[in-house]
Amino acid sequence: MKIETKAIHAGDRKADPARPGAFIPVTTPIYAAASFIYESTAQLDRVLGGEEEGYCYSRYDNPTNAALEELMASLENGHGALACSSGMTAIHIALLAALSDRRKSIVAASALYGATTSLLGKVLEPLGIEVQFVDICDLEQVRRKIEEHKPGCVLMETISNPLLRVGQMDRIAELARASGAALVVDNTFATPLLVRPLELGAHMVVHSVTKFLAGHGDVLGGIIVSDEEHHAITRNLCRTAGPVLGPFESYLTMRGIKTFAVRMERHCANACRVASWLGSHPRVAKVHYLADPAHPDAATIRRLLPEGLYGAIVTVEVKDAGKEDVFRFMDRLKLVVRATSLGDVHSVILYPVIASHRDVAPKQRERMGIHDGLVRLCVGIEAVDDIIADLEQALA
Ligand SMILES: Cc1ncc(COP(=O)(O)O)c(C=O)c1O
Repeated sequence: MKIETKAIHAGDRKADPARPGAFIPVTTPIYAAASFIYESTAQLDRVLGGEEEGYCYSRYDNPTNAALEELMASLENGHGALACSSGMTAIHIALLAALSDRRKSIVAASALYGATTSLLGKVLEPLGIEVQFVDICDLEQVRRKIEEHKPGCVLMETISNPLLRVGQMDRIAELARASGAALVVDNTFATPLLVRPLELGAHMVVHSVTKFLAGHGDVLGGIIVSDEEHHAITRNLCRTAGPVLGPFESYLTMRGIKTFAVRMERHCANACRVASWLGSHPRVAKVHYLADPAHPDAATIRRLLPEGLYGAIVTVEVKDAGKEDVFRFMDRLKLVVRATSLGDVHSVILYPVIASHRDVAPKQRERMGIHDGLVRLCVGIEAVDDIIADLEQALA
């Protein structure tokens, strides 16, 4: 089935095995139960021992979470998935699973979500895990780093934040596999509608489902989708470490995912229009968007992404603007929401200088191309003319 159909049907409508012939709910209910009982102790023993399918304790497994996990495994074409309490937990557990029987060393993209960089530097490095950063869009540099450091894991994002760079994931997967490393991909910005990393050779894919998948700004959650080998490792890790998502959040996430493909198409179409409008605005110095034929990774984008689906994020450099000008522009917006996060139905704007790159020294920020006039817009699914009108009056 096509991904749009899977998004609506996968994981749902399970019959209750204890009551054959009874009704089947059209959507999976919220199973707000910490543990589950059986007719006999012998059956509980079989379920606990893994000889019979079933649920015993919600830290191990829960029917609402299982439905979401089946859905996500289907969307990403993975062997299995695990729902976690946040995107960060999903990344943390995926990295631990990737390194479980490999060298405790990670080669990571230098442009990562800020909290992921902190996780590597402030949590994993102090535990003795070696971390090396690499320009993930420079394949030669990636090859050299992998040869030099023989990492247990390579970590990258499909589309980087906020400058929207796209690495050659399939080639990086080949390099990682040839050296025995696991490739972990954060696919949050792309979603499985644009790119499915496991099909390109990655071992594990993680999402902050908080963003486009749940899509309505009301859930915090994460998911790990893996191949067979890594799913088994991740499942054991999750059962012990207990990073599970609550069943209510699982339910909301599934409800969001049913419409994620149509929402994503509209996000992409609106973003394309907004990017091209901004590109010709006299107050705009530069627009970063994946549809731009002059994008530094244009060849990779054409090769790995479907035509016309270039994501919702548009990064804009306001001409000659300092922090005060950017604050003034953002404060004038009436429709576009000033907030952290992205991927919601509403358009949202964020200033990296005070958010993702707050702790980066100004000179280093400049070197990274994060100028003082740079803002990140996640274009929502409102009528695009209304979004443009709001940006126009605020820029004016
Ligand atoms: C690309 C990316 N990965 C991971 C995360 C972390 O997700 P969460 O906030 O759900 O923990 C975020 C959050 O903004 C993100 O943008």
